[in-house]
Amino acid sequence: MATSPTPPGNPLTPVTPSHAGVAGGGMEELLPLVLQLTNPDQREVVLLELSKKRESFADLAPILWHSQGTVAALLIEIVSIYPHLTPPTLTAHASNRVCNALALLQCVASHSDTRQPFLAANIPLYLYPFLNTQSKSRPFEYLRLTSLGVIGALVKVDDTEVISFLLSTEIIPLCLRIMETGSELSKTVATFIVQKILLEETGLNYVCATAERFYAVGTVLSNMVQLLQVHPSVRLLKHVVRCYLRLADHPRAREALKTCLPASLRDNTFGPHLHNDPTVQKWLSQLLQVVGQNADGSDAASTAPTVGTSLSGSTLGEN
Ligand code: TRP
Repeated sequence: MATSPTPPGNPLTPVTPSHAGVAGGGMEELLPLVLQLTNPDQREVVLLELSKKRESFADLAPILWHSQGTVAALLIEIVSIYPHLTPPTLTAHASNRVCNALALLQCVASHSDTRQPFLAANIPLYLYPFLNTQSKSRPFEYLRLTSLGVIGALVKVDDTEVISFLLSTEIIPLCLRIMETGSELSKTVATFIVQKILLEETGLNYVCATAERFYAVGTVLSNMVQLLQVHPSVRLLKHVVRCYLRLADHPRAREALKTCLPASLRDNTFGPHLHNDPTVQKWLSQLLQVVGQNADGSDAASTAPTVGTSLSGSTLGEN
């Protein structure tokens, strides 16, 4: 029997407010369930049960974190999947099961009392092998999306410590690949993560520290814009535009964007899609204002230096 998974947490939608003491969710009910996670025979059923109910238990995260053997049980679920990553042999059933474990970890990542110890224990690193998979099959898409949901839950809270942790773990190249090759939903979450990293000063400086990094990000963003012309998605475009706008806060990145911003962002290609979204419209026009013109007010495209001069390593690589 395949357990049906709960939907992966989407960091782009607000978390349902918890109803501590209102919606069932009492300790008496919760603790015995949580402890059953340590029993391999009961684990699968309990994973499903707890991940379904996770929104209604305000204290699920601290209980999971502090009860004996529970986090270890979740990590066992995760590492037991590794042998199925290469060659890709993950079944839908196994994917659903580990995604229920990931949903519980997402809970721990989201809770203000457990986030710091969650990072200190390097738990996100256990998810990186999942983010690094490339199979397009549904079990793998679902695994990547759910893993991204955990990272998305971390970055959603605007915590500098989260960003420094992620920067120290090379998450950006993993996100960049998903932004190039993932499903529309995975791309959106991966771009959201990169956006949140860029919005921190340390993240912006990290990405703009070398020309290679800046162009790795710039190329992926521009490839996404190309694809968005064929497969429009306003929610994805929104994060792409926000990333560009943030990059433009960095002086050398701003100069580079004057030449490498995709033409379709300048020529109103996406205009017809943006009527219902004043926020993207605003960001896009801010972006064009910042990078669209040279300092003297002339059109950047006509007077921009050639790629070779403006995009060389020294342009972005110093300071
Ligand atoms: N170690 C690589 C670096 O520091 C990580 C990396 C690859 C990276 N691609 C990137 C970092 C793009 C930022 C942007 O460059």
